This record gives sequence, structure tokens and C-alpha cells, in this order.
Amino acid sequence: MDVVLLGAPGAGKGTQAQILVKHFGYVQISTGDLLREHRNTGSELGKAAEGYMKRGELVPDDLIIAMVEGELKDGAPVLFDGFPRTVAQAKALDALLQSRGRGLPGAIYFQIERSLLEERLLGRWTNPRNGRVYHSKFNPPVVAGIDDEDGGPLVQREDDKPDTIKRRLDVFESQTMPLVEFYEDGNINRLIAIDATESVDDVTHTLIHALRLEHGH
Ligand code: AP5
Ligand code: MG
Repeated sequence: MDVVLLGAPGAGKGTQAQILVKHFGYVQISTGDLLREHRNTGSELGKAAEGYMKRGELVPDDLIIAMVEGELKDGAPVLFDGFPRTVAQAKALDALLQSRGRGLPGAIYFQIERSLLEERLLGRWTNPRNGRVYHSKFNPPVVAGIDDEDGGPLVQREDDKPDTIKRRLDVFESQTMPLVEFYEDGNINRLIAIDATESVDDVTHTLIHALRLEHGH
């Protein structure tokens, strides 16, 4: 089943998506990672998105929906990371998956209080080549500033600054939180809330249980 990872900036969506991709055969579609790639290559979409991202605001729905449509391939189940973020995007995703003969997605809500998120974001270091995420305190690389796998440099994200973090959290609360109700609504509750304050390993175990996954390797 395709799964939407829903949660505030810094809740751990990208971290967990990468683990589940490695061990359980999912494909990750991270709209944030895709937009950063577009920005880095200077594509038209990248240029259109850049200002919104810098300010910590949402990129317009039509651009995002078209981008996801282009990324969705038949086959392996998808983890949608950071998408949808508005009710319009969630409705568009349901329609898109149904038009491709896939079922409606489930949603996992990463529940965590706002006060913990700034520290997570200020300590984050990312591999810009593949989106791999570290934290200087909670999940450090073996050598500070260097990726464990490809040996290249890690960077801090341009939007991980106190003012922009605050704006991103405000935007999450006003525009994305309504999706909790969207996925709980109707006759079928499609949402599972998990405790995202636990350690990375504990959250992974919760997800394995919630998604009824068998441990592969
Ligand atoms: P995006 O890249 O999606 O950023 P975000 O939503 O702000 O989410 P983050 O990536 O910051 O958080 P995460 O939950 O992935 O946390 P992570 O695992 O890294 O979007 C960026 C921008 O692009 C948006 O602001 C917007 O402009 C645009 N955009 C993207 N999608 C869009 C859409 N659909 N519509 C419109 N605009 C869109 O973890 C964070 C840190 O915490 C890391 O350092 C990690 O090591 C650490 N950590 C993770 N888990 C734990 C744990 N359990 N305990 C301790 N530390 C942990
Ligand atoms: Mg992320």
C-alpha cells in the first residue's frame, strides 16, 4: 500500500523513509528533495520554487502536483514524504493513484510537540547528493561533516535557520494539520498516529508494527 508520511518539519519523515526504502522495498517520493534538486540544477520549476522555499512557504499546489505526477511509476509501493501538504494536494493524490489503478493511500501522522523540532532542525546535516540525513547530536556521522557512505561533504539546509524554521512550523500548523482530519474522515479511517518523539530506532519499530511489515534484513 502507498503511504503518506505526514508530520511537521523535523518530525523525522525523511529519516524513516530512507530506512524503510532500504529494508522494505518502498520507493520514496520526497517533494522537498525533488524541489532542492530542481533548484540546484536551475530548472524552470526550481526557479519558480526557490523563493517560496527560502521563505519557508509552500510552493503552489499545481506545480507540486504536476511534479509528483511525473515521478510516480507503476510498481513498488510509494512512501510520500512531505506530500501532500494541503487538502487540495491530498485530493489530487487520491485521484492520481486511483487513475493509475492503485488503492487510496494510508497515512502515518508523526506526532511530536513543536518545542522539540527546532533543536532537530538546527543540528541537521544532509548529504546533498542523495538526501541522506544526520544530526550532530542524535544521529551523528562517524566523521563530523562527512557522509558515512560516499565520503563526501554534508551541508546544512538553507531553510534550517531560526526565523525560517518558525515560519515553516506556522505554515505546517495552518495549512497541513487539516490533513489529519482529512485522512481520519469518512467511513474508513486511513490515519495512524505514532509517537515521533522516541529515538530513531524506536520510531522505526513503531512503523514496522503500524505498517505490518515483516523484518527483511
Ligand atoms: P521538506 O524538505 O519536505 O522539509 P520539511 O517538511 O520542512 O521537513 P523536513 O525535511 O525538515 O523534516 P523531516 O520530517 O524530513 O525530518 P528529518 O527526517 O530530516 O520541504 C522543504 C520546502 O520545500 C518546504 O518548506 C516548501 O517550501 C517546499 N515543499 C516541499 N514539499 C512541498 C509540498 N508538498 N507542497 C508545497 N511545498 C513543498 O529529521 C530532522 C532532523 O532530526 C535530522 O537531523 C534527523 O537526524 C533528526 N531526527 C530524525 N528522527 C529523529 C529522532 N527520532 N530522534 C532524534 N532526532 C531525530
Ligand atoms: Mg525531510
